[in-house]
Amino acid sequence: MHRILVIGSGGREHALAWRLARDPSVERVLVAPGNDGIAGAATCIPADERDAPAIAAIARRERVTLVVVGPEGPLAAGLANALRAEGIAVFGPDRAAAALETSKWAAKQIMTEAGIPTARGRAAGTVAEAIAALDAFPAPWVVKADGLAAGKVVLVSSVRAEAEAFIRACLEHGRFGVAGGRVVIEEHLAGEEASVMAVTDGERFALLPPARDYKRARDGDHGANTGGMGAYAPSEAVTQALEDEVARAIVAPTLAAMRRRGTPFRGTLYAGLMLTAAGAKVIEFNVRFGDPETEAVMPLVEGAFADLLAGAAAGRLDPGAVARGRGAAVSVAIVAEGYPESPGGGGVIVGLEALAADEDLAVFHAGTARENGRWVVRGGRAAHIVARGATREAARRRAYQAIASLGGSGWRVRGDIAVPAAGPGAGGASRGGAAAATATGGGSWR
Ligand code: AMP
Ligand code: GLY
Repeated sequence: MHRILVIGSGGREHALAWRLARDPSVERVLVAPGNDGIAGAATCIPADERDAPAIAAIARRERVTLVVVGPEGPLAAGLANALRAEGIAVFGPDRAAAALETSKWAAKQIMTEAGIPTARGRAAGTVAEAIAALDAFPAPWVVKADGLAAGKVVLVSSVRAEAEAFIRACLEHGRFGVAGGRVVIEEHLAGEEASVMAVTDGERFALLPPARDYKRARDGDHGANTGGMGAYAPSEAVTQALEDEVARAIVAPTLAAMRRRGTPFRGTLYAGLMLTAAGAKVIEFNVRFGDPETEAVMPLVEGAFADLLAGAAAGRLDPGAVARGRGAAVSVAIVAEGYPESPGGGGVIVGLEALAADEDLAVFHAGTARENGRWVVRGGRAAHIVARGATREAARRRAYQAIASLGGSGWRVRGDIAVPAAGPGAGGASRGGAAAATATGGGSWR
C-alpha cells in the first residue's frame, strides 16, 4: 500500500491528492503545505515546500512510500536530489534535469541537439544583441525572459516598440530579477495550442490525456497572460496520429537527450505545443504537471495512477498501469476580480459546499482560505470548478451551471472555456443552462 506525500498548495496539488486518494492501492495521502480546501480531502502538514530537511523529516515520520512534487520551484531548488540522497522515493526530476523548464535557452539547446521541432530562437545578453535578433525575425515578435519567474515572462507583440521595451525591461531594468538576465527571441508559431504530459522514469513513459489550457485573462483570448484560466481534456485537436508523432518525435528524443547528457529526466515532462501547419512544435517544456491542465486531466485517468508514479520514481514505469476514462472534463478557474494585474484577495465565494453533492463535479482549491465559516479569496486563482461529462460540451455546460449557482463577490471567471472555436457547429456552444446533458462517463468519482 502506498503512503503518498504531495508537495505544494495549489489546485494542481488538490487534484493530484484527490485522484491518488481514489486509488485502491493508496492507504494515505498527505499534502505539505496544502491549503484549507485540500484539508477536506487529505491531511495537510505545514511546511516550507523548499525546505528539504523538513520535508524529509515529514516523509520519515509518516512512513511515506512516495513523495510527489507539484511545483517547479522546489524541483529547481534541488528538493528531489535531497530526498533521493536520503533514500526517499520521489516523483520529480533532479535539479539538473529541471533545466528543461528553468532555462528557456537550455531547453532550446537541448531541443536543437535532439532535433526536436520547435521555434527557431536566439539568446541575447545585451540590448544590442537582442535588437539585432529582432531583426532576424518577422513580426509578431516573441521575447522571453530566460529563467524561472513568477508571472509574465513572455511577450508576443506585433508592435516593435513593445518588443524593444520588454527587452530593455529585462536586460537593463532587472525586471524578473535573474530570470531576465538573458532573453530568448524566437520565431512566432501560429496554430492551436495543446498540452501533452508524459509521466516517465527517464526512458519509458505514459502520455496522459492531451489537454487545452487558456492562458489569457479575458474572454476571446484577450488580456494579459495568466497562470491559466481554465482547461479541458481531452483535446480533440490532438488526434491519435498526432499523439503518436509527439511520442516519437518529441518525448522519446528529449528523454534520450537527457540520458545522453547524464541528467536523466524522471517525473512529468510537460510539452506545451503549437499545432502548426507543419506539425506539432514545442513552445515550452515544464518539468511538472501543468496547472490547470491537471485539474481537467485527473478525472480522466483510470487505473493505478499511484503505481504509475511510484514506478516512474523507481525506474521501472509500467505504461499499462493507467487507462483513459471515457468522456471529457472541463476546469474553470475562479479568480480574484483584478487578476492578474491586481490579484489581491478579499472576495468571498458562496455555495461551494453544495457542489460536492454532484458526483460529476469537483472543486479544487488554490488561493482560498476558510475564515469564519466562509471561503474567502486570498488572491490569484482561488479555486477550480471541474465537471465531467459524456462530451466536452456536456462537461462545459455542467461546469458553468455550477458556477452560476455560486454567490459572493470579488471573483470572476472566463465565460468561454471549452467553447468550440468559431466555425461550423459552433452555434450550439452558447446554449446552456437547464438543458445541459447529463454526464455518463466511466464510474463514479467517489
Ligand atoms: P510560454 O511561457 O513559453 O508557454 O509562453 C506563454 C504563451 O506565449 C504560450 O502559451 C503561447 O501562447 C505564447 N508563445 C510562446 N512562444 C510562442 C511562439 N514561439 N509563437 C507563438 N506564441 C508563443
Ligand atoms: N498551464 C501551464 C503551466 O502549468 O505552466
